[in-house]
Amino acid sequence: MSTTKEAIIEEFKNYVSPSKVAVYKRMGIELVPGRREGSYIWDKSGKRYIDCRTAGGVFNLGHRPPRVIAALRKALESLDIGDHILMSEYRAALAKRLAELMPGDIRYTFFGASGGEAIDLAIKLARGYTQRPKVISAERAYHGHTGFALAASSRKFQAPFGPLMPGFMNVPFGDIEALDLAMDEEVAAVIFETIPVPGGVLIPPRDYFPQVRELCDRRGALLILDEVQAGLGRTGRLWGVEEYHVVPDIMVLGKGLSGAIYPITATCYREKLESFFEPDPFIHLSSFGGAELGCVAAMAMLDQITEPGFLEHVKEMGSRFQEGLALLREKYPQILIEVRQRGLLIGLQMVDKKCGPLLTRALGQNGVLAIFAGLDPSVTIIMSPLIVTEEEVDLVLEALDRSYQAVTVQTEMLA
Ligand SMILES: Cc1ncc(COP(=O)(O)O)c(C=O)c1O
Repeated sequence: MSTTKEAIIEEFKNYVSPSKVAVYKRMGIELVPGRREGSYIWDKSGKRYIDCRTAGGVFNLGHRPPRVIAALRKALESLDIGDHILMSEYRAALAKRLAELMPGDIRYTFFGASGGEAIDLAIKLARGYTQRPKVISAERAYHGHTGFALAASSRKFQAPFGPLMPGFMNVPFGDIEALDLAMDEEVAAVIFETIPVPGGVLIPPRDYFPQVRELCDRRGALLILDEVQAGLGRTGRLWGVEEYHVVPDIMVLGKGLSGAIYPITATCYREKLESFFEPDPFIHLSSFGGAELGCVAAMAMLDQITEPGFLEHVKEMGSRFQEGLALLREKYPQILIEVRQRGLLIGLQMVDKKCGPLLTRALGQNGVLAIFAGLDPSVTIIMSPLIVTEEEVDLVLEALDRSYQAVTVQTEMLA
């Protein structure tokens, strides 16, 4: 293994991706993670960063969460991945736990190994169950890079891989009239992220999802909600959708479910949909999906986020961010024009597309890792671990203050 940072970058460039290294260099993100613990990662050079990227919620419990590690250490004494074709004590226990926590009558779970795969199954299930071909998603959606998930994502990600998969359409997120117009008796499912994060942390009004639910019911379409980023406590509620008081037919979980230690994802669905699997229960398979070690990691993670006080902590830290960000908005009104927030899911809407990359670079210099939204560089996403402390929130706010000063100077120079 290479030891110096320069040697690692060279090796990465030579054997993984020269084009990625070029982009990191251009953007000033030359971070090679070494040590990691809790809310922090350390660059190989020794520089410390607070992780406000958390890989979109993978690190909800921070890096190397002790409880998940202890559970997995113990499990490694006697378990392995398990045979996905057979029954499993661990998949059964985790699925039961999820059913108890899920909204409404969502009951069954099919486990996967990646979010894209879990979304693919949600769409397969909807098409198979309804026997209809069409799927409606949001224009600025991101559901993963696999087949059906990619087809339901923004055109930006599909462009190099045409021709497009038939039957997929998109509408502007939050626009109920556009959805109404797109709906017909051929629509199998409407799929949305509860809060689209890569689209720029778009928070829908309170009446949006109830109306979407009503439209789906009226037209006989299923509602799929992607809670890969918005679920598992991120918003200060266990599920992002709780705020909207609707029950989707299928809910997809990923990222944070792994406890950042062992990949596992879940496609959870209502009881009635199980009839799709009756003719052939093995019509969808995943060798690594629902690995028993992953089930142990997910169970330990769920134990932690459902403990009394956990979600209150997320809300309190969210409020601390909210107060600090309101001050920054007053101080930098020419750059920071809106703060969109639910709990510890925060989108900083800035004045133009230059600002996201400039802020990412400045934050990096000030010891915070945060990135702009993949589909809208004018929005910087702040997603700290959910275990973030008051002191760490204050450190991020101070870093934001210094970074906005720097971005102000740079944008004035560019003007
Ligand atoms: C909202 C959302 N859905 C699905 C996915 C796909 O998950 P994965 O990268 O595990 O395939 C992502 C990944 O970023 C995501 O943000």
